[in-house]
Amino acid sequence: MNILITCLLASTVVLNTSNSSMVLNAETGKEAKILYYGSALEAGEADALEAAGYRWNSLYPAFGLRGADEPAISMIQADGNLTLDLRVTGLHTETWENGRIVTITSSDPVYPVTVKNFFKSYSSEDIIETWVEITNTGKKESVLTRYYSGHLPVRVGDVWVSTLYGTWANEGRVCEEPLNRGMKLVKNMDGTRNSHTSHAEAMISLDGKARENSGRVIGLALEWGGNYELRFQTNDSDYHHVFAGICPDNAPYALAKGESFRTPALAYSYSGQGLSGVSRNFHRWGRKYRLSHGDVERKVLLNSWEGVYFNINEPGMDQMMGDIASMGGELFVMDDGWFGVKYPRKDDCSSLGDWEVDRNKLPGGIGRLVEMADAHGIRFGIWIEPEMTNSVSELYEKHPDWVLKAPGRDNVYGRGGTQLVLDLANPRVQDFVFGIVDGLLTQNPRIDYIKWDANMNVSSYGSQYTGDQAKLDIAYWNGLQKTCDRIRAKYPDITIQACASGGGRANWGVLPWFDEFWTSDNTDALQRIYMQWGTSYFFPAIAMASHISATPNHTVFRITSLKYRCDVACSGRLGMEIQPKNMTDAEKDFCRRVIADYKSVRPVVQFGDIYRLTSPYDNRGYASMMYVTPVKDKAVFYWWKIANFYDQHFPRAVMAGLDPDKTYRVHELNRIDLTPLPYEGKCFTGRFLMENGLEIPASNNVDYNMKTDWSSRVLYLTEEL
Ligand code: DGJ
Repeated sequence: MNILITCLLASTVVLNTSNSSMVLNAETGKEAKILYYGSALEAGEADALEAAGYRWNSLYPAFGLRGADEPAISMIQADGNLTLDLRVTGLHTETWENGRIVTITSSDPVYPVTVKNFFKSYSSEDIIETWVEITNTGKKESVLTRYYSGHLPVRVGDVWVSTLYGTWANEGRVCEEPLNRGMKLVKNMDGTRNSHTSHAEAMISLDGKARENSGRVIGLALEWGGNYELRFQTNDSDYHHVFAGICPDNAPYALAKGESFRTPALAYSYSGQGLSGVSRNFHRWGRKYRLSHGDVERKVLLNSWEGVYFNINEPGMDQMMGDIASMGGELFVMDDGWFGVKYPRKDDCSSLGDWEVDRNKLPGGIGRLVEMADAHGIRFGIWIEPEMTNSVSELYEKHPDWVLKAPGRDNVYGRGGTQLVLDLANPRVQDFVFGIVDGLLTQNPRIDYIKWDANMNVSSYGSQYTGDQAKLDIAYWNGLQKTCDRIRAKYPDITIQACASGGGRANWGVLPWFDEFWTSDNTDALQRIYMQWGTSYFFPAIAMASHISATPNHTVFRITSLKYRCDVACSGRLGMEIQPKNMTDAEKDFCRRVIADYKSVRPVVQFGDIYRLTSPYDNRGYASMMYVTPVKDKAVFYWWKIANFYDQHFPRAVMAGLDPDKTYRVHELNRIDLTPLPYEGKCFTGRFLMENGLEIPASNNVDYNMKTDWSSRVLYLTEEL
């Protein structure tokens, strides 16, 4: 249904979701404005906002005619004029099954530019997406120098912002700070892995330091896998100005005559239920609309990397498959090291691009491995890194012009001293990358899972294909998206993990083609609690690969108990990253139990609503969180000690998200204690659990020789009818 609204009186639009409202104005001949974004307004309240003193702000401020205000868009006109004057020329709204789409069209009265601001509401998930389309309607080229996806004014008060930072092996760490005068910039220029050092999402708490389950919070997520910036500007006005979009640095976008440029979408969510409330909205929306197969349970898998690294061979793979199958796993993934004929992949210095099996390691090829997996009753998955090559490879020897490289410069190498990024702007490279997946899956249709890795940033900023170097980032990501579209069109059912040196591709712009991401190469349980906490701000457990690994941990060398490692791993998409043949029978038995327990709660974890309870960042010596089904009949509660001192006194574990009027039976999962918890099998009302809570013993009650400094609990709550 399309409703065309052109008259002045109808120029105010109230865009509602179940629990939020946004008020926009698009009066013909004036600048488009925004008045409000927050909790749902009652009928008539939008009209009263002005009377309440609320002020209109520019919706999409343009540079040059507004004093010193930060712009969301700036451009150089064909004649060199730097100014842009956007005046509304049209307003269009239409409905779709879960909300409305509003399009505000503005044009410059003097210069040939049209800008469309789109807003799409997702009513049931409380999400509003915005994006922009900029068209050069003139006869000559103009150049965009800033082209953000959106601008949101936030009323000054005790406003805090949480962003995610990190590096390799420390992704998704929370940085929380008050928004003060000046400029805060979160910027990422990696080119291929944009969630390592920072994330393209932020939480804005309107009521002081954010709380998990109360308080007004706005979340925003830029749906873009390439370079970006989030800009928070606070000047002398009553508003913070929040902008997000593709990073325009070194990327002026030349807009040819008649050309339109569309920005990636920026998703907002408002919740009055704190950080976790916003997370629940993003998780529900993501699973339904963005994540590939967001409604399909993920298999429990063993990945070979930390178990054998590059030492792939047929008996070794068979042994690992047998072991994971015997522990109840459902999938085995063979990681790096299986390919390369002229240059066998024995370490990270060669072979990327030569995706032919190394018959010295695997005489029966992939086909034989798939048969072995079938014989063990599990599925088979395989690692590739299709966007990359090494200078030591047959691919590079044939196509040195396929790598990213600034014209006239020598290669700049990455991992292994020889790695290079392929130029996805080049359609022949796109065909090649599609062909890698197509070849593997045509020859081995029983392959169930692909781990798609990307271990290098764009280090030499240039394309040997595209003429316009400034468009490299956009051309690369458009090329990758096109390639992924082709893969998904032909292989809609395959599961694909986005790995990028660990957690470099946790982003809602990437996940439509991927089923999950590898959260981090760091599998240390303690550090994972911090990383998974931050990552869960925007991404659901179903997408967050979380594996049980060996101790001492391969990255931080910490020694933790198996129980602790399992209890952390099973709060995400459970898997293993270990050499099972080095485990004792008792350890394997325990993992068998953990996997069985996980399977019994998998729908709760993977499709449930998250309620984070006590943050590890609050340094209280423990952290806890839970998942609750939407109908609140089941819940899984996690409690992990994060510091160990004698004479610690932890508070009772007060829960959240339950139905106060329902009664829940408590059952401990992954149990190692000699005696059951006193409340094992007992029933409590949701009200009691949320108001009073349960005592969590500070340590696990195990034999003296089994005692460690780690302690954790997983409790399963089921409604007692
Ligand atoms: C980086 C990934 O994050 C690891 O899990 C592993 O797949 C290696 N690459 C393989 O080279």
